[in-house]
Amino acid sequence: MTLLEAIESRHSVRKYTDKAIPQEIIDTLKSKVEECNKLGNLHIQLVTNEPKAFKGKMAYGSFSGVTNYFAMIGTKADDLAERIGYYGEQLVLLAQTLGLNTCWVGLTYNNVKDAYSVGENEKLCCMIALGYGNEPGRNLKRKTARQVSNASDSTPKWFHNGVAAALLAPTAVNQQKFHFEYLGTIGDGIHKVKAGRGFSLIGYTKIDLGIAKLHFELGAGKENFEWA
Ligand SMILES: Cc1cc2nc3c(=O)[nH]c(=O)nc-3n(C[C@H](O)[C@H](O)[C@H](O)COP(=O)(O)O)c2cc1C
Repeated sequence: MTLLEAIESRHSVRKYTDKAIPQEIIDTLKSKVEECNKLGNLHIQLVTNEPKAFKGKMAYGSFSGVTNYFAMIGTKADDLAERIGYYGEQLVLLAQTLGLNTCWVGLTYNNVKDAYSVGENEKLCCMIALGYGNEPGRNLKRKTARQVSNASDSTPKWFHNGVAAALLAPTAVNQQKFHFEYLGTIGDGIHKVKAGRGFSLIGYTKIDLGIAKLHFELGAGKENFEWA
């Protein structure tokens, strides 16, 4: 399965079986975590066989059988949340290609202090539940390309593809408060795209934007443009 196929087949899954994740898959995920931590200056940790974080809370989304998760941690910084989104979604899509299911979780988890380490200047931003789902999840209604971008007959094909991939990105409560603007080639001949986020009472729009930007890059092809 390619990453684009993973984008298309991924849905949030909240109910998991007790099937264990084979060691070689854990090793693959751990080396991707290491890469993300290095490139993104993050402190993401993969926690396995730990049932306490997802016991008992039912506020938003009801989880069952979660015993594996990524603890999405990094040093406090203005751009931390966006990097958490951008790199975390790389883990989500890799997991999908490996036959696993996932769900980003902002709210409905317990802190289990001895399961992962959060340094003094660090923050646990959210979790990503991981495992073999009891169900594949489902297609939720999405916004249209015109609602989240200036895609039109005069914008390039790759821009449309980028927006289409971003529209499949997971966002908190499916809020999709991101937008993409094709700016053309300004001076240097390189196509520029501006990404931004709207207001939300729920929050999480910075993480959402990082996730959506990763999807956009995969859909559009990173070689075709630069972020403005
Ligand atoms: C930053 C973020 C936080 C989320 N927090 C929760 C959560 O606390 N509980 C939950 O059940 N789902 C949570 N979700 C999952 C979203 O509800 C889900 O991605 C959205 O409804 C779109 O559905 P899909 O992922 O199946 O495409 C979160 C997603 C994101 C990106």
